[in-house]
Amino acid sequence: MNDIRKIAFIGAGNMTQSIVGGMCKSGYPADHIFVSNPSPEKLEKMKSSLGVNTSQDNIEVIKQADVIVLSVKPQLMEQVCADIKSKVDNLADKLIITIAAGIRMPKYRTYLGDDITIIRVMPNTPSLVGQGMSGLVTDSADDKDKAYVTEVFDGVGDTLWVADEDQLDILGAVAGSGPAYFFEFMDSLAKGAMELGFDPEKARAMVQQTCLGAAQMAKESDLTLEDLRKQVTSKGGSTAKGVEVYQQRDLHTISADAVKAAVKRNQEMADLF
Ligand SMILES: NC(=O)c1ccc[n+]([C@@H]2O[C@H](COP(=O)([O-])OP(=O)(O)OC[C@H]3O[C@@H](n4cnc5c(N)ncnc54)[C@H](OP(=O)(O)O)[C@@H]3O)[C@@H](O)[C@H]2O)c1
Repeated sequence: MNDIRKIAFIGAGNMTQSIVGGMCKSGYPADHIFVSNPSPEKLEKMKSSLGVNTSQDNIEVIKQADVIVLSVKPQLMEQVCADIKSKVDNLADKLIITIAAGIRMPKYRTYLGDDITIIRVMPNTPSLVGQGMSGLVTDSADDKDKAYVTEVFDGVGDTLWVADEDQLDILGAVAGSGPAYFFEFMDSLAKGAMELGFDPEKARAMVQQTCLGAAQMAKESDLTLEDLRKQVTSKGGSTAKGVEVYQQRDLHTISADAVKAAVKRNQEMADLF
């Protein structure tokens, strides 16, 4: 990493552990990373495995850092921010990153002040295995801050900047919810094989590796997804027969409707905060 800043993570849950793990793996100095959490167990684990600084006091880590990553559950965010606002007086000098789902940037301004610089990041669960897809958006950070945060989240997968928070909702409905769609699809494919006599273990092994292989091919190829599909679909062959079933049942409409339903729910949830 080129830009090394003192960074404080508020909350030491699954996401923080993955992101900090990715940062350390990419060579970010552990002595520049601070993590706070109310219960000590996760902190002890992170301190012993990664060598980062830890504290049970959010304010103590924030005071030492240039960057704050808010990584608590959305329902706790207002209370955590109120405590920070009442005890830290130079918040406008720090870069604030939030990974909480659903809470929009204007809401953070009501919590932390109009003059904050904030970046919202929407990671997804494959970040836990270093294969995440994180969406990022800001209304206030400059290019240097954006490059810094991109590098941090590149440590747990790929990053994609979007233009506004409506687009982040769409990204959340595709990449955030997407692992569940793929698991649903993989499960149904595996069950298809099981109906024809495959045992569950072998059905799963064959489906997950095929999924991984197809994703890797898509990543490495310049072809469109449609052309990649055509490449493995010889006319009159068995794949063509299988694909025909998906097309007859209109998989495209099903997927588009699923994304629209998840976007709608994201927007409803944003209204809750
Ligand atoms: N997991 C995902 O795939 C994912 C994807 C996108 C966005 N996110 C967002 O990422 C955030 C964190 O998610 P997560 O999955 O890492 O959740 P998590 O594993 O439940 O972690 C949340 C952590 O916050 C700690 N905490 C509770 N109260 C606190 C306080 N007052 N001050 C500081 N820390 C406090 C909890 O500590 P204790 O356990 O000791 O109470 C816990 O370690 C959430 O806002 C979520 O919406 C998660």
